[in-house]
Amino acid sequence: MKPVVLAVGVALALGLAGCAKEEKEAAKVVSFKNDVAPILKKNCLACHKPGGEGHVKSGLMMSSPENPDEISYENLMKGTKFGPIIVPGDPTGSTLNMLVEGRADPSLRMPHGSKTGLPEQDIKTLHEWVAQGAKDN
Ligand code: HEC
Repeated sequence: MKPVVLAVGVALALGLAGCAKEEKEAAKVVSFKNDVAPILKKNCLACHKPGGEGHVKSGLMMSSPENPDEISYENLMKGTKFGPIIVPGDPTGSTLNMLVEGRADPSLRMPHGSKTGLPEQDIKTLHEWVAQGAKDN
């Protein structure tokens, strides 16, 4: 009897551990403040701050004149002079995701002039954040 009990115990423990891990991954909520803003600050803000090349050319300003070094959710959501670049819940239709994922014209890949683009993990984070509704969380 003993080995069987042990085997069942091990199987149960493994099963539970597996479930807990999956749930954790599925429930991961992307935070604008903690996950998204740091990516934009590091990779995009240099050109998309007030008066930066990207702001002047496209109208997309990711911070504000009052606080040029901090990402502004409101201004990011305003988008370019042509309108929003983020459609909450729809990363496929969002210009922001199209550009960093290289789905648009290669000359427009963002960060502008970068051949490799963002790290895979950052691209995923931006994608998930938009999919989850692009919230100011
Ligand atoms: C080296 C400067 C630079 C960096 C860094 C940069 N951009 Fe840009 N961005 C530009 C320029 C310049 C334009 C205008 C492109 C044009 O009209 O040819 C632009 C335009 C855009 C547009 C508007 C495209 C359109 O449809 O008109 C989006 C969206 C954008 N950038 C997002 C980003 C994101 C997201 C990042 C960071 C991952 C980023 N940019 C980093 C320079 C930059």
